[in-house]
Amino acid sequence: MNRFKDAEHLVRVAGVFLLGITLFLCFRAWFVPKSFGQYGHYRADSITEIAALPVIHAGHETCETCHADVLEIKKAGKHAGVNCEACHGPQGKHAEDPSSIKPALPDTAVLCARCHEANTAKPKWFPAVVSAEHSQGLPCNTCHTPHSPHIGDKK
Ligand code: HEC
Ligand code: HEC
Ligand code: HEC
Ligand code: HEC
Repeated sequence: MNRFKDAEHLVRVAGVFLLGITLFLCFRAWFVPKSFGQYGHYRADSITEIAALPVIHAGHETCETCHADVLEIKKAGKHAGVNCEACHGPQGKHAEDPSSIKPALPDTAVLCARCHEANTAKPKWFPAVVSAEHSQGLPCNTCHTPHSPHIGDKK
């Protein structure tokens, strides 16, 4: 008995697989970036590309060297752990050249709500308000000092 008398269809299937694998290898060679896998499962060139981006944040230590008065107020209040640029945005350019680049002051109606608007996804301990009811249409900084916001804390 000839075991392989019906082998022709197997050869065809094998052919299809071979074609598939060849196409896969061609596409892979074409699409996978050159530096992929050099250090790990990612594109090694991305490290130099990201490192070459301009630095836009100055970091709070830099702000505090010039704005020691703000630091004094802030570190005693409830916003001690919130960094300058979390509220003022990236200010690297201002820190380098404060006399010609002056940051715009944040709009508290937008800024404060970003962190404090009540939302069921937030942890229970985090102080939150429904700003429409809570602020009666007034800007938040009518009553709260942004750098030391707890009512009753020394300003
Ligand atoms: C080298 C000193 C210096 C550094 C560093 C610096 N500032 Fe300033 N900043 C100033 C000076 C000086 C002014 C006042 C400019 C003016 O009034 O013309 C100012 C003004 C400001 C104002 C606007 C005040 C207003 O009345 O409009 C804000 C907000 C501010 N800085 C935030 C920051 C933040 C945030 C950082 C850190 C990323 C920072 N500054 C880093 C010197 C500095
Ligand atoms: C919780 C948000 C928040 C943080 C954190 C914060 N600021 Fe402010 N800052 C504000 C707001 C809002 C104003 C505008 C106040 C106003 O319009 O009366 C302001 C105003 C200022 C001003 C203008 C003068 C003044 O005192 O009102 C300076 C300068 C300033 N911030 C610097 C800083 C520096 C430096 C830090 C970090 C040490 C910092 N801020 C951290 C929200 C913040
Ligand atoms: C980047 C997020 C962030 C922004 C923006 C922000 N806050 Fe806060 N706020 C915090 C954190 C964090 C705390 C401290 C929570 C804690 O430890 O209990 C806090 C605490 C407070 C408290 C103290 C609550 C109490 O115990 O009385 C008040 C009031 C407050 N913020 C008001 C404001 C106001 C007004 C603004 C706008 C000028 C503002 N916050 C902007 C993060 C933020
Ligand atoms: C008319 C004055 C006034 C205005 C305007 C105001 N607040 Fe308040 N806020 C208060 C007082 C008073 C308290 C403390 C009493 C309390 O906990 O209700 C407070 C408390 C808070 C607390 C702490 C709540 C808690 O659970 O501990 C947060 C957060 C807060 N305010 C955020 C804001 C934000 C954000 C705005 C702007 C949308 C704002 N406030 C505008 C008067 C004001």
